[in-house]
Amino acid sequence: MFSIYHYNLLHRNTFGVEAWADRFVEYANEEELVMFVKTECKGQPLLHIGCGSNLLFCSDVSGTVLHSGIRDIEQLPCDDAEMVRLRVGGGVIWDELVSFCVKNGWYGLENLSLIPGEVGAAAVQNIGAYGSEVGDRIEQVGLINLQSGDSLTVPGDTCQYAYRYSRFKGEWRGQYAVTRVTLRLSRTFEPDLSYGALADALQQRGIGNPTAQQLRQIVIELRQSKLPAPEVLGNAGSFFMNPVISRETFEELQTRYPRMPHFSVPGGEKIPAAWLIEQAGWKGRTLKNAGVYDKQALVLVNRGGATGKDIVELSEAVRADVKRLFGIQIEPEVNFI
Ligand code: EPU
Repeated sequence: MFSIYHYNLLHRNTFGVEAWADRFVEYANEEELVMFVKTECKGQPLLHIGCGSNLLFCSDVSGTVLHSGIRDIEQLPCDDAEMVRLRVGGGVIWDELVSFCVKNGWYGLENLSLIPGEVGAAAVQNIGAYGSEVGDRIEQVGLINLQSGDSLTVPGDTCQYAYRYSRFKGEWRGQYAVTRVTLRLSRTFEPDLSYGALADALQQRGIGNPTAQQLRQIVIELRQSKLPAPEVLGNAGSFFMNPVISRETFEELQTRYPRMPHFSVPGGEKIPAAWLIEQAGWKGRTLKNAGVYDKQALVLVNRGGATGKDIVELSEAVRADVKRLFGIQIEPEVNFI
């Protein structure tokens, strides 16, 4: 186990904001984590993080920040010859897993290429992009209770996966460490081209029938063209979720904004928050040291030296203007700590 007191979290969050934790602990396996919970932690607050690519430190963290060092990938027996079952450690880098799977001919994760973060956090956040969500591939999640140290395994279909949501963000919040995730992948490649921008990108390149590697490459290119690299400009990907509004509200808004983009989903119409933010005049703007990215209005960035509070202040100003203009409340996707 790696343990250090009074730890600077600057390099543990992709926004690149400074915050201090009383202690930082990285466990190498389940036994170390159980031992820590049962003997050393003594009821102090615990915060489990992954790569810090979807959180914002608004102040210092009292207690211990935990990080997984479980980085193995095992292939499990599978009764279906068409499928592959993988049990993946929570500390595996997500995109390294996607790359490994594509190389081995195990399919289903290509559209989720280049999403920053680790496997444990991916299962908490239900990461999604280009029409795919990881929750659809999760068969089981291995957990350790952070109060008792007990181990348990829960089926994926009890995790309440929904758009950028799981039970780990709701009633189970803060209760468990995700130690392992069992994924069910396919040996047959069937590209998911349901997302318009992805299908368009393939068409522009004259690729009718992509290989998994080509699809992965195009997803990577699309992401790189819109999302800033955190090493260059601190950010946490989409800062807000795309709101779903009722059909009545949508129809009423559409009379005022006939060009408002929208996507029909169960329960109403999903409106790109990026469009709302851009219309509100925030794209490319800066407040203190935080800004709205000029190529994708859904991304807030650290323009250098921003504090967590600067970024919160900017997000509140953006939300207030969107609310005033459209009557729509946009909610952060990023977790405020
Ligand atoms: N748009 C604007 N202005 C902008 C950018 C986009 O008006 O500055 C409008 C355009 O109409 C565009 C639409 O928004 O067609 C959708 O844009 P895009 O395809 O870039 O997707 P998004 O809704 O902005 C979502 C996810 C991303 C994911 C992409 C692709 C959320 C909150 N975000 O973004 O996820 O990569 O779709 O699937 O659902 C993340 O969660 O961190 C993330 C990057």
